Amino acid sequence: MNMHIPLRVLQEGEDAAVSSFSPTQNSAVLADNHGRRFSYLRLSITDVCNFRCNYCLPDGYQGTDRSGFLTLEEIRRIAAAFAAMGTRKIRITGGEPSLRKDLPDVIRVLKQTHGIDTVALTTNGYRLTQQIRDWAEAGLDQLNVSIDSLDPQQFKAITGHDKLQEILSGIEMARELGIGNIKVNAVLLKAWNMNGFQHFLDWLKTTPVTLRFIELMETGDNASFFKSNHVSGESVKQQLLDSGWQAKARGPHDGPAQEFSHPDFSGDIGLIMPYSKDFCSSCNRLRITAKGKLHLCLFGEQGYELRPLLAEEDSQILQQHIRELLSHKKDSHHLQEGETGATRHFAMLGG
Ligand code: 5AD
Ligand code: SF4
Repeated sequence: MNMHIPLRVLQEGEDAAVSSFSPTQNSAVLADNHGRRFSYLRLSITDVCNFRCNYCLPDGYQGTDRSGFLTLEEIRRIAAAFAAMGTRKIRITGGEPSLRKDLPDVIRVLKQTHGIDTVALTTNGYRLTQQIRDWAEAGLDQLNVSIDSLDPQQFKAITGHDKLQEILSGIEMARELGIGNIKVNAVLLKAWNMNGFQHFLDWLKTTPVTLRFIELMETGDNASFFKSNHVSGESVKQQLLDSGWQAKARGPHDGPAQEFSHPDFSGDIGLIMPYSKDFCSSCNRLRITAKGKLHLCLFGEQGYELRPLLAEEDSQILQQHIRELLSHKKDSHHLQEGETGATRHFAMLGG
């Protein structure tokens, strides 16, 4: 570990595509030693989840300590510090974030942070129909909902909940409320949803959402499930290209998803292929756990404790610490070799 590697610090305005917002505290945009910029933060607010997705928490949430998650004030300070270092988008993740009663307040606090222009939420949809109005009112800009199958029985078999129809109505409600850019995440699972591929395509004909197929990733807890269910995203990509889907142009701040569109379809398709070469070169995100640890990679070995530095209103020391930590970010994960780091399942880290 070398705490003294000089950081490649990019100045505001060095790249015309960087937002014109000019933070008063610190004008350098967060970047690592591999030339990647970090303008996107995934912030977990609880690791508790009420679903039992077979690739993530097949036996349900096992944690015994359901307290001690970041407070609203700590969340406000994290957001302010990251915004001062060039973060423009914060995604709220979990576990399942809607299990926290103060989720609308969390959205509001993030949205009110000077410099944050996009507040996004990833949810399993369990409370979507009941709460989407409150989330929209609080300022939610983007919504990702996980739907691994459009077959109600199969959805129940994967997640443990008979909620598909309700979640689909929740997505309609979100559209009516004007939430833009709705994304639906489906993890590719050989023995489960691959036979429903056509069903997903039929749905996209008339539904203007982006459906993102996520290649199943191996975690510490799911090794044997992974072995029997991993499907390469490349085969899906080939099917899409063969049937007239076209790769969309990539923007300078796009993350690792590859996106496709088709003139006959209202919706788009995204592919997330973490096993593909170069996946990590477009990494633009950092992660914070529900108890305040910074993770530089979804598959890293450890998180770095930020909490003690959240006690102060002034975030200069916190910012400096985060910049130093970023010098440890590796160029790539080693998932291909089955090295899953310390991540037992995604509920720990919010995906
Ligand atoms: N591999 C791929 N995707 C996963 N998710 C959870 N666990 C895994 C895994 N092992 C997905 C969830 C959710 C998103 C945040 O991550 O289904 O859509
Ligand atoms: Fe499923 Fe997400 Fe809950 Fe894991 S955290 S069980 S993927 S809903």
